[in-house]
Parts: sequence; C-alpha cells; structure tokens
Amino acid sequence: MVSRTKKKASKTKKTSAQSSVGNSLPSFVLSEEVVVDLRRSLLSWYGAQGRDLPWRQTQDPYAIWISEIMLQQTQVKTVIPYYERWLTKFPNVEVLAAADQQAVLKLWEGLGYYARARNLHKAAQQVVSEFGGVFPQDLEGAIALKGIGRTTAGGILSAAFNLPTPILDGNVKRVLARLIAFPKVPNKDLNALWKVSEQVLDPKQPRDFNQAIMDLGATLCTRHNPACLLCPWHSGCAAYNQNAVTDFPMTESRKPLPHKQIGVAVITDTAGKILIDRRKQEGLLGGLWEFPGGKIEPGESQADCVKREIQEELGIEIEVGSKLITIDHAYTHFKVTLNVFNCTHLSGEPQTIECDEVKWVTLDEIADYPFPKANGQIIEAMRLQSKQKLQ
Ligand code: ADE
Repeated sequence: MVSRTKKKASKTKKTSAQSSVGNSLPSFVLSEEVVVDLRRSLLSWYGAQGRDLPWRQTQDPYAIWISEIMLQQTQVKTVIPYYERWLTKFPNVEVLAAADQQAVLKLWEGLGYYARARNLHKAAQQVVSEFGGVFPQDLEGAIALKGIGRTTAGGILSAAFNLPTPILDGNVKRVLARLIAFPKVPNKDLNALWKVSEQVLDPKQPRDFNQAIMDLGATLCTRHNPACLLCPWHSGCAAYNQNAVTDFPMTESRKPLPHKQIGVAVITDTAGKILIDRRKQEGLLGGLWEFPGGKIEPGESQADCVKREIQEELGIEIEVGSKLITIDHAYTHFKVTLNVFNCTHLSGEPQTIECDEVKWVTLDEIADYPFPKANGQIIEAMRLQSKQKLQ
C-alpha cells in the first residue's frame, strides 16, 4: 500500500487531472504540460524497464495480430509458447486462412476462450478474400474483422504501423482510472477513459507509448500491491496523491458465480473405442470435442443424469458404471463440477442430435482432437485406468 497520508498528499501535490464536471468541457482534462511530462517519463521508464517480448521484435501485422488476440484474456507468460508454436505452424495469413478449423483449435487447445480462435480463423479468410491478404491499415478496416474490437485494433495498428491509435485493455483501464482517480466503474463510462487514453498517447511514438502503458499496468500498476514508488507516473497520479490507489478502478460488488453440476459419460464399445462428440460452433467451447453429458437436474442422481443426457443427446442406451473422476473447473462466469463415469454402450447408433459430429476413437487417437482444458484430466484418468487394467 501507499504509505503517505492523505492530508499531506493533497496539500502538496497537484494531480494530473482536473475534473470539470459541471461545465461543458470533457469530464477529465489533462493540461498539455502534464501530458508532455507523462509521455516523457513513461517512455524513459519503458526504455529502461520495458519487457522484451517476442511480438515486439517484429512489425509484421499478422504476427502482432496473433499476439493481440492471444493476449486478450491470457497472460503474457502463457501466451509466449502458444505464439511461437502458432507462427511455426501458421506463418502467414494465407496459411491460416487455408487451414482446417480442427488444426486451428488444436493449436489453441488450453488457451481458453475458443471463440478467439474461431474468429481469428474466419478473419484470416476475410483478410485473404476481401483485402488481398493485406492487413487493413486503418481503424475502420481492422475493426471490421471478426474478433477485433477497438482496443485490439489500436494495439495492432500502433505496434505494426506506428499509428496513433489509443488502446484501453484491462491493464490500461486500471492505470488511467488511477491516474485521474476516475470516480466511476470504468465499464460504466468507457468513453471518458478512451478520451484519456487518446489524450495521453504520444503521437510521435505511439508504438512505444502503447507498449509502455501496457507494461506499466502489467508490472507496476497491478491490481493488488502496486509498486507506486517505482512508477514513473506516481507523482502526478491522482489516486496515489489521495493515498487511495487500490480504491481504483472502482468496482461493483460481484454476485457469487453460479455453480453447475455436470454428469459426463466416457462410453466404451465392445472394441474398446471411446465415444466423443464435437460441440456445435456457437457458444462456449464451440467446435471443440468433448465427452458427452449435461446438467444434473434438481433431485436427479449423477448416474441417472448421465443415462438421460446420453439418450437425449445421442439417442443411445448405455450402462453407467463406476466413477472415473470428479473435476472442478472455473470459467469466467461460472464454475462447473464434472462428474465423470465409465459407461458401456448397450444399443443404438449415436446420432448428432445436439452436436455437430460424433466419433468412436481409441485412447491414442484422442490426442489428435482439440478438447477443453478440463477434459485433459479425464483423458489422463482414462490412460491411468487403462494402464492399471493391463497390469
Ligand atoms: N496485452 C495486450 N497486448 C499486449 C502487448 N503487446 N504486450 C504485452 N501485453 C499485452
């Protein structure tokens, strides 16, 4: 936490932003002198402390685009190996556009938020068919691509072409909300923060400035325990000067996440093959493969749920056997418990009633199919069980 007292700080410090609520000016105005100083101090800090990240060693819009999509909801250290594998397998937009969706999802496996991969694939096809394989060099063109919103477009265009396009990702929202002690929940008035991002952006060095403000948010101006004394902006930071850094950005009280109980079937046929199904394209985990199952109804036993779901989704009869594994997994908006059962196929040909495809596969073949992360533990448990049976 910041150590100074509120009283002393407010007496001695001039903050960066003057609120002008009540007159006709934009809500937060930073003077030109303050802005020039913010740019200078941030760029100087970035020169000394900025991170050396793989996508900063290129100006190829395709590579930068890939990095920005991967970084949308995922941390830098997780993204780096995925980014490198991706560029080896899909080195340019033409190769990506021509790839099979399965191969695209397989390479994304484990990164989560799979709509990003599906959209990236579709957008690559858009770039090839509508823009002759050339990434658009303006905001409007970039935003027209699937999966690219204003901040991703700003990140790509500034990094690839050094264009003065502001950004406002989660880290930047936090930095700016603190800088001006923004008195609202950011997502309730994003326009005001966009204006601040636009105002502080250095028009002479937009590439470095945007990378620098992202680094500031990721390394010093963190949500918890921000390292204010190391921050190049601390002396002009309104939240710091109010001794209230961690009060910003303001938040709404959150409801606890809903928790779904799911019954899952690992169905084996007489030849020892396992039944997997491919989820429909729409929605969470769309296009990925899974072990079939569904939500346990109130009052229903786990085993009854599995039997019912398999009858409803695939039109087949199974016998539900022993429990294979129980897995807890948290998504952004809900938690799940997967109650996974060993099951035996009794009768009927699996039908694609609520999925796009079904397949009988061997345990070895499963590795070729993209599965959601939580399913990795099911596959591991199946391998372990199969080893134990052989012993
Ligand atoms: N998050 C989004 N874009 C990023 C970038 N270019 N570098 C680091 N983190 C990021």
